[in-house]
Amino acid sequence: MKKTIFITGGAGFIGSHVIRLFVNKYPNYKIVNIDKLTYAGNLENLKDIEKASNYIFEKADIVDKKVIDELFAKYKPDGIIHLAAESHVDRSITNPTEFIYTNIVGTVNLLNAAREIWAENIQDKRFYHISTDEVYGSLGDNGLFTEKTAYDPKSPYSAAKASSDHLVRAYNHTFKLPVVISNCSNNYGPNHFPEKLIPLAINNIKNMKPIPIYGKGENVRDWLYVIDHAKAIDAIYHNGRDGETYNIGGNNEWTNINLIKHLCKVMDKKLNRTPGASELLITFVKDRAGHDLRYAIDSTKLMTELGWKPSLQFEEGLEKTVDWYLANEDWLNNVVSGDYQKYYRDMYECK
Ligand code: NAD
Ligand code: DAU
Repeated sequence: MKKTIFITGGAGFIGSHVIRLFVNKYPNYKIVNIDKLTYAGNLENLKDIEKASNYIFEKADIVDKKVIDELFAKYKPDGIIHLAAESHVDRSITNPTEFIYTNIVGTVNLLNAAREIWAENIQDKRFYHISTDEVYGSLGDNGLFTEKTAYDPKSPYSAAKASSDHLVRAYNHTFKLPVVISNCSNNYGPNHFPEKLIPLAINNIKNMKPIPIYGKGENVRDWLYVIDHAKAIDAIYHNGRDGETYNIGGNNEWTNINLIKHLCKVMDKKLNRTPGASELLITFVKDRAGHDLRYAIDSTKLMTELGWKPSLQFEEGLEKTVDWYLANEDWLNNVVSGDYQKYYRDMYECK
C-alpha cells in the first residue's frame, strides 16, 4: 500500500460513492472509512466493497478527540477527505447544537490530529474539506456563486459549514497545513437518505402519499449527479492546488415545483400509472424557516484547471435514480423504518 487515506462520513450518501470510487480505482491506497453511523450512516451503502483488501471501516465519532487522535496514531494517514457532517437543513433548524459539535468541533479535531501527525513531514500530505454552496447564502434571480463570493450563511447548517471552512483556511494560513476545499451544489442519486427532497418525493409517490412542497415551490437548486461529485473530489484531491477552493455544480437549475412535476411524469411512466396521476399528490406545506431562494454554481475554475465536467444530463440521471430506488426496495424500507417514522411525523404531520 502506497498511501493511507481517511475518508470521514463514508457510510453516508456522498461518502459511500467516494469510498467506492477510491477503493476500486486505487488498489494501492488503503482507504479507512471513519463514520459514527448516525441515522444517516448506513453500511448497506458499501456492501459491494466491504470485503475489499484495501478497505477498512472504523466506527468513530469525530467529536471524540481521544478516539480521533488514536486513529491518527494507529494509521498515520497521508490524506484526509472529510465528508462527515450533519447535513440536513431542516434538522439544523429544529436542533442546531448537534451541527455545531459535528461540523465545527469535529472538523477542528481532525485538523489538530492532522497537524500533529504531519508535524515532522508535510510532504505529499493533504487535508481535503468537503463543503457546500450554502455557505454563500442565497442568490436573487440572477448571478452565480464563484469562489470569490463572500460568505453569507443563513441556516444553522450552513453557518456551521461556513465556520468549518474558515477554520480549514485558517489552519492553512497559520500552520501551513496543506488543505484544499470544495463547495458543491445539491447532489442527487442512489443511496440518498429520504429526508431530502428527491428521495422523499420518490418514496411518497411510490406509496401514493402527499409530496410536501415548501411555500410555493419557487426555490431554485442546482442539481448534480452524486457520482459526478465523487469524480470531482477525485480530481481535486489529486490535482487541486494547495490552499485553493473549487466550486462544483451541475449547471442545472430547477425550481422545486418544476423538478417535482418532472419527477411525477417519470414515476407515472415507471409505475404504469395514468399520466398525471402522481402530480395529484403534490401538496404545498408551510415554508422552511429562512428558506434560501436560489443556489447556482459557477464551476469554471474546476472545469478549466482540472478538466472536470458533469457526465450526465439531469433527465438521464433522474431516471437512473428512480430506477435505483425502485430496484432497491429493501434499502428504502430499511431506512424508512424506526426513527425515520418519528422524524416524518414530527416534521410533516404535526405542522
Ligand atoms: P449524509 O448525511 O448522507 O452523511 C453524513 C455521514 O456522516 C453519515 O454517514 C454519518 O453517519 C456521518 N457522521 C455524522 N456525524 C458524524 C460524527 N460526529 N462522526 C463521524 N461520522 C459522522 O451527508 P451527505 O449528503 O453525504 O453529505 C456529505 C458531505 O457533503 C457533508 O459534509 C455535506 O455538508 C457535504 N455536501 C452535501 C451535499 C448534498 O447535496 N448532499 C452538497 C454539497 C456538500
Ligand atoms: O446545496 C447543497 C446542499 O443541498 C447540501 O449542503 C445539503 O447537505 C443538502 O441537504 C442540500 O440542502 P437543501 O436544503 O437544498 O436540500 P433539501 O433536499 O432538503 O431541499 C431541496 C429543496 O426542496 C429546498 O428548497 C427545500 C425543498 N423541500 C425540501 C423537502 C425535504 C421541499 O419543498 N419539501 C421537502 O419536503
